[in-house]
Amino acid sequence: NVTGVVSVARDIRELKEKELNLEASRNMLRVLAARRDSAREEERKRIAREIHDELGQMLTAFRLDVATLKFEHGTKDPAIAQRCQKLIEMTDQTIQVVRNIASALRPASLDMGMSAALEWLANEFQIRTGVECRLHIGPSLDGFTEEQSTAVFRIVQESLTNVARYAQARQVEISLRETAEGYAMTIKDDGKGFDPDGVRGRSFGLVGIRERALMLGGDVRIDSRPGEGTAVEVVIPFPHGGRRLAA
Ligand SMILES: Nc1ncnc2c1ncn2[C@@H]1O[C@H](COP(=O)(O)OP(=O)(O)OP(=O)(O)O)[C@@H](O)[C@H]1O
Ligand SMILES: [Mg+2]
Repeated sequence: NVTGVVSVARDIRELKEKELNLEASRNMLRVLAARRDSAREEERKRIAREIHDELGQMLTAFRLDVATLKFEHGTKDPAIAQRCQKLIEMTDQTIQVVRNIASALRPASLDMGMSAALEWLANEFQIRTGVECRLHIGPSLDGFTEEQSTAVFRIVQESLTNVARYAQARQVEISLRETAEGYAMTIKDDGKGFDPDGVRGRSFGLVGIRERALMLGGDVRIDSRPGEGTAVEVVIPFPHGGRRLAA
């Protein structure tokens, strides 16, 4: 039946076309997401700098004035000395809060290279959660572009947030090393684990991790089972493809 064959051929062609269109829109979405992310990072950087510089300077000036006040009038009146001291302590605390907010938005260490940024993150996490956080970074890992370091940083940040929220872990280990295919990064906890197939489409953390890795031309594997901890494994190809030249 010739008409039948022709119509099946047409159906297949239409299906193929639809598949290609779908693939094209997926890629377009990915490009849009990448652009939105980098705009957001720029904005964070700007806000962090402003909070840090402007607020920081004003608070420092304020602190100096109170210290002067205490020096000039405190000896005559111990109550004034005490009030001034209290104000100085409150200002110090506020300066610390401002620093923390700025760092959370955009760690200054991110501009000092990958290792410094990850050390800051691991240390911060350990202090905040009490979960032991070990960091193994292979040598010569500072050849990351800014786009790469930001993506790696945000991936580790989201993974650690998940560990803090859900894992009930005692320990988490972050490792980053060079392999033949590119950089390999693992964030592994010894917590309660989960079924990765069971969470599809409900939340954005793991999806975001995957998108960031794909944007860099890499890939992600979530290795977890209830009762067996979780490992997030990311492979990031070297920039410009191929092997990185020895430094
Ligand atoms: N390290 C982990 N240990 C145990 N469970 C985890 C871990 N990481 C993720 N999960 C589980 O996977 C789910 C999905 O994580 P995901 O980061 O995608 O979303 P979320 O954290 O729930 O929300 P969002 O990240 O969008 O704020 C979590 O709700 C949690 O049940
Ligand atoms: Mg999450």
